[in-house]
Amino acid sequence: MGSLDAVRASIAEQVKFDILTQTQDADNEKARQQVARNFVSDTLTVPSKDMYIYASMASLGDDVYHEPSTLALEAHMAKLTGKEAALFLPSGTMSNQIALRTHLKQPPYAVLCDHRAHILRYEAGGTAFHSGATSLAVHPANGHHLTLADVQANIILGDDIHFAPVEVVALENTLNGTIIPQEEIIAISDYVHSEGLKMHLDGARLWHVAIETGKPMNELCAPFDSVSLCFSKGLGAPIGSCLVGSTNFIKRARWFRKLFGGGMRQTSILTASAAFALTHNFPRLAAVHELAKKLEDGLKKLGINITSAAETCMVFFDPSPIGVDFAELLKRAEALPNPILIGGSRLVVHIQTTKEAVDDLLALLSTLAEEKKAAGFVYSPQANGNANGNIYIRAREKSK
Ligand SMILES: Cc1ncc(COP(=O)(O)O)c(C=O)c1O
Repeated sequence: MGSLDAVRASIAEQVKFDILTQTQDADNEKARQQVARNFVSDTLTVPSKDMYIYASMASLGDDVYHEPSTLALEAHMAKLTGKEAALFLPSGTMSNQIALRTHLKQPPYAVLCDHRAHILRYEAGGTAFHSGATSLAVHPANGHHLTLADVQANIILGDDIHFAPVEVVALENTLNGTIIPQEEIIAISDYVHSEGLKMHLDGARLWHVAIETGKPMNELCAPFDSVSLCFSKGLGAPIGSCLVGSTNFIKRARWFRKLFGGGMRQTSILTASAAFALTHNFPRLAAVHELAKKLEDGLKKLGINITSAAETCMVFFDPSPIGVDFAELLKRAEALPNPILIGGSRLVVHIQTTKEAVDDLLALLSTLAEEKKAAGFVYSPQANGNANGNIYIRAREKSK
């Protein structure tokens, strides 16, 4: 017995692992300061201590069976969005993909969406992989948002065996930070439903639409059969999304979540963080939008082209009129004594972005403009280094 104890102790030595660094508090403080100057994405926001203290007090169930805090959050989300039921999921990608998988029953079929949609471009081809569906990517004629005319001009209906008919029209609101007018969504929804098809919304940042337009969440969600909402982006929770829809839809989606490997256990630490974010961070989005507009105004004053306006928390820009390209700007921003991180033409302002970070970024661009002028560059408003306005370098992992 003595020797078994010795063997166990030796295995425990091999197993044990301390992930905290010698300077953990200082490292975390540095991470907090860095995120305040990071314009790459709002997914990079870090949980506050208050959020984690609140989360640590939540219930202790197993969500594959019955997790009280998680069920409470799901019930709240269903009520908030005016739907019958809700399902907590680990990510926005899983939420969108499970929504599509649940709607789509018997191929051949297609999903119609904006050509810039997250489900099309940034979910690793999930719609084809998980649901075996074709994606019909539509370019909005107005360059801003899909309209009823766009949908009607591109939709595939009927039983011509050459085609995969559309079964789901999936919208995204906000898309690249821009808002789809609600009247247009209603017109699309009325038409899509009149054809017996389904409407899904990737509402990862629908929170921003509610804050900006003053329309309540249930009104924004009403035209859709399913909506995916994220807690881990603008709201600043560490992990999590919610899918909302009818009772039957969510019942089946819960089945697919298990099948996809997304059935989680003690989820209350996550759902309580999400609840904290709903209460404390959602109201802060108005100030986020104001700061994004201030950034946009500053860019315009410098003569920089705005390629997609700051309707909510993002602004897309093109600095080529002042002779600057993205690679140079990224390098100089990272080389500042107090570095700024940028992902490309997309600047994202979030609840942890400081006013100083915005001022410092504008000051850097002003310095660069002066340098270019001194080197003989002539201001050129027509210059366009980024014709479609939506190219951005995706978030790069930063270890330092
Ligand atoms: C509009 C939109 N939808 C869905 C997602 C996917 O979310 P996740 O990264 O949690 O999978 C993102 C991620 O940034 C997004 O921007």
